[in-house]
Amino acid sequence: MAPISLESLADSPPSYASPKLDLHEIHDTLVCVAHMAGDMMRSADPSVDSSDTKKNSSDRVTATDKAVEDMIKATVTRRYPDIDFLGEETSKAGQRLGCRPTFVCDPIDGTLNFIHGFPNVAVSLALTVNRKPVVGVVFNPFRGDLFTAIKGRGALLTRSNGNVTRLPVRAMPEPLLGLNDALVALEWGSDRSGPNWELRTKMATKLLTARCAGGAMVHSIRSSGSAALDLCYVAAGSVDLFWEAGCWAWDVCAGWIILEEAGGLIASANPGDWDPTVDGRLYLAVRGAASGQRELVEELWKCMGNEKFSYSK
Ligand code: IPD
Repeated sequence: MAPISLESLADSPPSYASPKLDLHEIHDTLVCVAHMAGDMMRSADPSVDSSDTKKNSSDRVTATDKAVEDMIKATVTRRYPDIDFLGEETSKAGQRLGCRPTFVCDPIDGTLNFIHGFPNVAVSLALTVNRKPVVGVVFNPFRGDLFTAIKGRGALLTRSNGNVTRLPVRAMPEPLLGLNDALVALEWGSDRSGPNWELRTKMATKLLTARCAGGAMVHSIRSSGSAALDLCYVAAGSVDLFWEAGCWAWDVCAGWIILEEAGGLIASANPGDWDPTVDGRLYLAVRGAASGQRELVEELWKCMGNEKFSYSK
């Protein structure tokens, strides 16, 4: 199939007219759009001062978040007018992900990193059908890492030099031996008080604490500031587990299919639920491995005791 050019995306009439979706074509379009978004991010000059706050001082948005989403929405809805659109910056309060084919977009995942110049930032684009992701594209323009997946076709990492690696990076990933041997990703979110915050910080302490003192003594914890990239790092196999609650479908949708296609597993951040939804705000992702995936989930759930996160959808 011929690659899609930026010019054709800007000028071409809508090409989607039948209910049959060409996932390869949509994938190529999203990759193209992700590069256009990357150019906008790289040429922006964001700062803490020029960003706006949303619900508090750690929940921020920039003019670039909005401009990138406007460009993405205009481009994909012109080309695929029959596909719905759900984006972080343009969604209405309470808008739910539906069963119809939907583009799910986070124009800049890692906005705090973006305004501080910390180069772990990505545009995250997915197509969902029946509320499940079937195409995912996560692109970090500052590192040049492009993570992609199409349902049933595996997941790939394309580097800035053009090298393409099938995920996970190790063809034979090591077995998972338990939390004591794991590198864990978790994020802090912007809600910094209340029961969810207490559970988050209690768990961070428990995971890090020595076993002789009642903890799990994980190798360490990483907080990259982008849930989309965290999922891609688990897909790559460079992080064993990602435990996160409170973020939204647009933060996780693309990373979800990339992880699944790399042999990873997603359960709920709360104990007992092996079948979470992309908009359920509760995620526990484990890398691909020949053994130990479910045991690692059970071990983390056990660390939570009787406590659970509680979020409105
Ligand atoms: C945020 C990041 C962060 C997660 C937050 C998200 P944003 O997305 O994914 O890792 O902890 O919950 O809101 O706001 O930078 O698009």
